[in-house]
Amino acid sequence: MDYGPKFEQGLRLMLEAIGEAQEGGAAPPLSAQEAALELRDLARLRGRPPFYAYLGSGLGRGARVMLADGRWILDFALGIGVHFFGHGNPDLLETALRAAASDVVMQGNLIFNREYYLIIQTLIDHAPRNMEQCWLSLSGADANENALKLIRQKRGGRPGVIAFRGCFHGRTSAMAEITDRPDYRMGQPSTFPVFYLPFYDRTDPRSAEKSLDAMRAVLRQNAGVIGAFVVELVQGEAGFVTAPREFFVPLFEEARAAGIPVWVDEVQTFGRTTELFATQMLDLADYVDVITVGKMLQGSAVLLRKEFAFDPNLISGTFSGATVAMAVGRRMVEKLTGEGYYGSGGRIKHLERLAFEHLERLAAGHPGAIASVDGVGAMISMRLGDSSLDRTRAFIRRCFQEGLALYFGGHDPACIRLFIPAGDVTEAELAEAFAIMERCL
Ligand SMILES: Cc1ncc(COP(=O)(O)O)c(C=O)c1O
Repeated sequence: MDYGPKFEQGLRLMLEAIGEAQEGGAAPPLSAQEAALELRDLARLRGRPPFYAYLGSGLGRGARVMLADGRWILDFALGIGVHFFGHGNPDLLETALRAAASDVVMQGNLIFNREYYLIIQTLIDHAPRNMEQCWLSLSGADANENALKLIRQKRGGRPGVIAFRGCFHGRTSAMAEITDRPDYRMGQPSTFPVFYLPFYDRTDPRSAEKSLDAMRAVLRQNAGVIGAFVVELVQGEAGFVTAPREFFVPLFEEARAAGIPVWVDEVQTFGRTTELFATQMLDLADYVDVITVGKMLQGSAVLLRKEFAFDPNLISGTFSGATVAMAVGRRMVEKLTGEGYYGSGGRIKHLERLAFEHLERLAAGHPGAIASVDGVGAMISMRLGDSSLDRTRAFIRRCFQEGLALYFGGHDPACIRLFIPAGDVTEAELAEAFAIMERCL
């Protein structure tokens, strides 16, 4: 909306004030003691303590964020991958302020403003070829629920799902049934069959062959009950586990031959690899029927080939997203696709190279401390020593004390995941993050 010169003048003043606060002009909202008390009360009210004492003040700049008690830390956890542009990015703040002036906070699926149309259009414009329709939702798990429903509808209600060992697809009832973590569905009934294939293992030269054999065995015995084949092209929660194109192609061809739709869950990979979609990075668009995205989009969506268009009664809901989230998510996609982030000469590939160089140096300087590294683009991981969950979590907590937020992935073995704030991080900040890790090794 154009609100006229008074609005523009006010907006400039607000952005200026925020800029001054970011440069040290703002007092923290709480003392260290008050922040600790709030965190303790929060733990009581939500029934569980936070992973680490992160209570944001609402102020940040680039890769750095100010906690409520005034401590500045480097954020390489990004809310598990949401804040790709780090904190307080002036362009995104301006987009958010403009959107916040709109008459509605939340948009729906019945009544919506232009942001609803514009984000759908932007996503389809940049999506892998063949993705022609898009439905918005709030969380990654919501988008996945919609994907599962629309695929099952096309498959005459066949309930079964083929997925990968180590996969994560969300926490709703159906997604928890697919996610390969029995402890995430403790006490829950099992309502449909899930068949797991081994994911790519780069230490095993027969890995691709073993997965294909497993796929064929599943199809021989169960093809009639299978509705969907769901894939993370880079496994996220498992620890940023990568696999080459050649691993997926025979599996996708097998699924195709059996009439089973291929659904790629890009909730975590969206934006973060060396192309906007990992499907594009691995040149797999021709095999993919449905894609789900989330996290960095600041909302979520299912994208589909038009043959998968679903019955209007099947999917809807009150909310399609927050106005600010839609505008900022769209602006992020515009910036990523228009400002040199992707491709072999793009900013994300450059940061990936730097991160692997830092990891190599770390490994060389501390023999035995780093067991392995993996990942791609702005999602990089490393396993420490024995890769135990306890040791990994202790390391992350130590880094947090030293001023760096990281997160873990996997369970046994576990790894450290670095969510690189590729939108805003400087090379000096990247080096500082690795220096903190080195101190904590
Ligand atoms: C691959 C993948 N799918 C789905 C989800 C679920 O997304 P959300 O937590 O937004 O429901 C996640 C979250 O980490 C994910 O990594």
